[in-house]
Amino acid sequence: MVSTSFPKSKIKVLLLESIHDVAIEAFNREQFQVESLPGAVDPHILKEKISKVHIVGIRSKTRLTGDILRSGQRLLAVGAFCIGTNQIDLDAASELAIPVFNAPFSNTRSVAELIISHAIALLRRMPEKNAATHQGLWLKSADGCHEVRGKTLGIIGYGHIGSQVSVLAESMGMKVVYYDIVDKLALGNARPLSTLDAVLKASDIVTLHVPATKMTSGLMSREKIALMKKGSHLINYSRGNVVDLDALSAELKSGRLAGAAIDVFPEEPKAKGDVFKSPLQGLANVILTPHIGGSTLEAQENIGGEVSSKLIKFINNGSTTSSVNAPEVELPIHEGVHRILHFHRNVPGVLHRINSYFAERNVNVLAQYLMTNPKTGYLVMDVSRKVANTWIEDLRAMPDTIKARILY
Ligand code: NAI
Repeated sequence: MVSTSFPKSKIKVLLLESIHDVAIEAFNREQFQVESLPGAVDPHILKEKISKVHIVGIRSKTRLTGDILRSGQRLLAVGAFCIGTNQIDLDAASELAIPVFNAPFSNTRSVAELIISHAIALLRRMPEKNAATHQGLWLKSADGCHEVRGKTLGIIGYGHIGSQVSVLAESMGMKVVYYDIVDKLALGNARPLSTLDAVLKASDIVTLHVPATKMTSGLMSREKIALMKKGSHLINYSRGNVVDLDALSAELKSGRLAGAAIDVFPEEPKAKGDVFKSPLQGLANVILTPHIGGSTLEAQENIGGEVSSKLIKFINNGSTTSSVNAPEVELPIHEGVHRILHFHRNVPGVLHRINSYFAERNVNVLAQYLMTNPKTGYLVMDVSRKVANTWIEDLRAMPDTIKARILY
């Protein structure tokens, strides 16, 4: 078991893949020691580096396998300075009691802004006019061009992005209807409709903001697309397998649908510059983009701020709020108390053992917090007396303890 109770200035942070300066500055303010590298590093170098640090921050190119995570003998937490966490073996991180933090909503606004711009661009037939003008054709005409004001925007999935789009669309004078499988508070004058079909039939523009689930795979099937109004538009900035692109292509070619903007595809190229094919290529009034809905410098900065603050909070206070894999405990500040942080395997008897241990030593417990997931438990205890070093060693030696540290 590793010792994890020490001064802040001894906390070492390794940041890979050019993580934003706001994160480096945040760690510096805490007096943590930061090493920031511009790219990903080879797995064997990573193993060596990770063995010496308490926090590692990565983006999407670094794979943190179980083997690499196990080399992190001092590793307390991982920061995924991005949205996805597929590159991290989360089961291994959980078994090692290493909370992983990411920034799932840092790019919400970036996506929402682009949806509004696409709504306007599609209704003004901008893709067609832009392409023609580049080719020397002067398509000066109002045919098929409309304002968005007064048009109905149908939002499927009224979560973080969908609800932001709702607010921005209303400020442009659009009417908003939406459908969500969960009851969501309508913002402004937006109206929830009780079925997906009702939204599809009512909307001039349909925009999809659902997560990737079994239920949303193929959600916009041929039958559902056929329910959309004649002359309406479809925007998909959610996940690639939500829309049947062959069916959409057929509806656009027939002219029944007036346009589409698609950012996500069933199969996306792995690297920048790779060849990409889609049945929507070459169609008029269709905007195709390479999964860039959330890709802005502002979002990168937000990610840097959000993930570093979650990591700092965990180190300084023990909170695991919004961790991807650890049981979530939101803790108050711990002024004037000693806080014990204890990760253990989620099996019967652990709590009883710890409580008996402290009762025998006449320690008054001021507060106790426990959260578990199927495999791991996270117990936090605030006690009034200074915790003797031998006690924390005893805690670490108890059966089923994974990791324990104290905050003074
Ligand atoms: P969120 O989790 O905040 O909201 C999703 C909403 O969809 C929730 O309210 C949920 O109840 C609802 N929902 C789930 N299943 C549904 C169904 N079958 N029918 C109707 N509603 C359903 O997620 P957030 O942050 O708004 O993101 C939405 C999507 O946008 C995600 O798939 C995400 O991956 C994608 N995204 C794409 C980006 C891009 O670059 N194109 C960038 C950021 C997110």
